[in-house]
Amino acid sequence: MDAKRRIIDLLEEKDEATLRILMLRADAVRRRFLGDAIHLRGLIEFSNHCRRDCLYCGLRRSNKNLVRYRMAPREIFAQAAEAANLGFRTVVLQSGEDPAYTIRALCSLVREIKSELSLAVTLCVGERTREDFLRLKQAGVDRYLLRFETSDPCLFRILKPDSDYERRFRCLEWLKAIGFQVGSGNIVGLPGQTMESLAEDILKFREMRLDMVGLGPFIAHPDTPLQGSRNGSLDLALRVVALTRIMTRTAHMPATTATGTIDREGRQKALQCGANVLMPNLTPVRYRRHYMIYPDKVGVGEDPARCRSRAESMAHSLGRTVGLDEGHSLGPRSAG
Ligand code: 5AD
Repeated sequence: MDAKRRIIDLLEEKDEATLRILMLRADAVRRRFLGDAIHLRGLIEFSNHCRRDCLYCGLRRSNKNLVRYRMAPREIFAQAAEAANLGFRTVVLQSGEDPAYTIRALCSLVREIKSELSLAVTLCVGERTREDFLRLKQAGVDRYLLRFETSDPCLFRILKPDSDYERRFRCLEWLKAIGFQVGSGNIVGLPGQTMESLAEDILKFREMRLDMVGLGPFIAHPDTPLQGSRNGSLDLALRVVALTRIMTRTAHMPATTATGTIDREGRQKALQCGANVLMPNLTPVRYRRHYMIYPDKVGVGEDPARCRSRAESMAHSLGRTVGLDEGHSLGPRSAG
């Protein structure tokens, strides 16, 4: 039986014992290749403006019910400094696709963070040109996250009407060639998504030799065209986490906020079937509720120090440690 068929069967598996074995195996692969440390990345959501109109996302430009904000570079720097004080070794700077932040502005912010705070910097600001990516790398950006969301070209075109499927994958190739540690990922349980296309997503994670894979269940947002659609299930998202761990072996995988939003124990469960990263939210509390990608996001009211200590207790309650170094990629050593 080929790999794709085996993955589809496990995504559809009904036998509890078989599923338990899948989860245990994923946990063992995580332990063997990455050890027990959970890496913490401090997440700063610095702008919720977006030029795109993705059907699933609350930040889409057509959503007029969203209060928009943009943090000034010095505010972002101050937040990164707080992250460094709290003991973080990595910050993730994330925003909608907001053209107001020029590459020049992003580069000078990153240079300042690198030289004054010595943090690893991950950017998650959407599609840019190859030249822009080159300049960001030269400014010191270590990692770049760009989920492909779904590998199904038809579904992609429907859900991301103003994006180009080929171009998104080209961006990911450029990022890899330029030398970033590259992360991608998908949304699990999107309306119209098939088990076959989820299996293709997982195979793509391996084929692309990703350093990081982030994924979570779809959560319907009331102010988007997908309002009222059925949410993705935690169970299916966990199966995708487990299968991705087994296939990629060394990829860093966060237990995502969406996973923790759909189920109170979601992140803990993801950490027990392959995930090895947590991304505590360090966005200033006054902005945080406006970064409303989907409703009821967990941890919206907690200050940064509390987010960090919660992540630490989560790690310890699972018998795991907290990573003390930057938690760079070990390089892809995928299965098969
Ligand atoms: N449900 C779950 N995840 C979503 N994302 C965007 N909208 C939703 C939603 N409604 C994910 C996308 C994006 C990441 C930041 O959040 O995968 O890349």
